[in-house]
Amino acid sequence: MEDRVVSGEANEQEVSFEMSLRPQTLAQYIGQDEVKHNLAVFIEAAKGRRETLDHVLLYGPPGLGKTTLAAVIANEMGANIRTTSGPAIERPGDLASVLTALEPGEVLFIDEIHRLPKAIEEVLYPAMEDFCLDIVIGKGSGARSIRLDLPPFTLIGATTRAGSVSAPLRDRFGVISRLEYYNEAQLAEIVLRTAGILETAIEPEGAAEIARRSRGTPRIANRLLRRVRDFAQVKGDGKVTLEIANYALELLQVDKRGLDHIDHKLLKAIIERFRGGPVGLDTIAASIGEERETIEDVYEPYLLQIGFLQRTPRGRVATPLCYAHFHMEVPE
Ligand code: ADE
Repeated sequence: MEDRVVSGEANEQEVSFEMSLRPQTLAQYIGQDEVKHNLAVFIEAAKGRRETLDHVLLYGPPGLGKTTLAAVIANEMGANIRTTSGPAIERPGDLASVLTALEPGEVLFIDEIHRLPKAIEEVLYPAMEDFCLDIVIGKGSGARSIRLDLPPFTLIGATTRAGSVSAPLRDRFGVISRLEYYNEAQLAEIVLRTAGILETAIEPEGAAEIARRSRGTPRIANRLLRRVRDFAQVKGDGKVTLEIANYALELLQVDKRGLDHIDHKLLKAIIERFRGGPVGLDTIAASIGEERETIEDVYEPYLLQIGFLQRTPRGRVATPLCYAHFHMEVPE
């Protein structure tokens, strides 16, 4: 993927930066009110019964705080969290060793759970349902299966694509929650909170401008804040004002709606090369040199959300709103 100021992906430095900013409790976690309120009930109920929380599946676009929320849930349960990801687990034995290392009550977080191979998924089924592990010993006619007990634990799975999680796996989660894009007020609150932690002076108007251009995504808001703060330090007096925010975001090529050069490339390709569509996703991907999956998971969801793009059975269509954004006329 091309370098992208507002990409949903996080690099290593940002991961550690973000860790230090992360809320620890549901009360500190801004937004996702419905999910949060339901989880608070399930957590309190499980604690009241002295049981582990039922398994939780979190899904939604990248950068909305699935990993953060998993850590908050573990913290609220008073439990330790162990983290892995679908692509990191290559063989059934990898998962078996993760599961057998769990202590009672711990949370196992599996990011990108839709990328677990089917054979490995099957190890998870009895582990989730009965807290046990079926291990095959030996080969051929001498092979036999033994059952190992596991301690009770909570699996939290995260995915950008709920549709790619197999039905048998999905059915084994007792709680399935979809994270939504944040509104501007929530993002501004997150930006102000982060600025406080970074000890960066900021005006509410500066925070609001960053929020407006963050595509509904806290990870992007926090990243843009860091970049704007650099401009404030070098080109201003250190304070993040509306003026500095506008100046910096202009130079970062993040437009008034938070769209960057890749969004522009994508939308302009549909408008200029395919007369606004409908055009198939694979055709768009080939035309702009991005992977289909990246467009589908990272770029497209927000463009659909703000009504710039429509998904039809015959392909993607640029909407009148999208034409208006580029000051272009919708063709006859
Ligand atoms: N930082 C990133 N996401 C956050 C959220 N949802 N609430 C508080 N701080 C955050």
